[in-house]
Amino acid sequence: MTTPLRRYGFGARWYDVLSGERWVYRAGREAGIRLLDPRPGDTVVDLGCGTGLNFAGLVAAVGPTGRVIGVDRSPDMLAVARRRIAASGWSETVTLVSADAGTLDPSVLLDANGGRGVDAVFSTYALSVIPARDEAWRRVCAAVRPGGRAGIVDMQRPRGRWRVLEPLALLACATGGADIDAHPWRLLERDAADPRRIARAERKGGHLVAVAAELSPAVTR
Ligand SMILES: C[S@@+](CC[C@H](N)C(=O)[O-])C[C@H]1O[C@@H](n2cnc3c(N)ncnc32)[C@H](O)[C@@H]1O
Repeated sequence: MTTPLRRYGFGARWYDVLSGERWVYRAGREAGIRLLDPRPGDTVVDLGCGTGLNFAGLVAAVGPTGRVIGVDRSPDMLAVARRRIAASGWSETVTLVSADAGTLDPSVLLDANGGRGVDAVFSTYALSVIPARDEAWRRVCAAVRPGGRAGIVDMQRPRGRWRVLEPLALLACATGGADIDAHPWRLLERDAADPRRIARAERKGGHLVAVAAELSPAVTR
């Protein structure tokens, strides 16, 4: 059996081309960033950042005075992310943290943000891969300032006429080690400050779900 670390180890250099980014998954991350709506000067944690495919959108949103902190446990995915940061000139804005989200110490994120709580957490196609997703979520939310926001983008089985693509979606999830039935955006629906103000979008026949909301003070720092 391929362990998650091996899956995102050897495969890291091929991830951007083989993950279906262009035709499928980019649409979800773009919708998610739009719903999260980070502001200039914000600090956003990208949980399970992988090779950094969210960085362009997040850096554009937070601007030169903001910060993006990418967290991932795969050294190979982080190596690709590091190259992306260098090639794009984002080294002043993007910091990488090598950590297992399931045991992440929230103070590491606070330290990376000058001791302050971060403004938002964003996670795309990662929580469905992390078996200890509840624990990972609890830990990252503990680094968010009161009134901060969160966004989750992940996968479910396609619906309607798109159901014909379900075998392909299942194959993509199996290849990436994702649980297509995990529906991790439910963590955010549970922990939103106001259930009436949860923003949601679906893309690609419902296969991609993006949810964003302000977090409840019960889960922030
Ligand atoms: C499908 S990739 C998604 C990467 C990126 N967020 C994206 O949208 O392209 C899942 C990522 O989660 C990371 N990951 C898996 N388990 C993890 C854990 N326990 N802690 C931190 N990262 C983890 C993997 O290393 C991988 O980079």
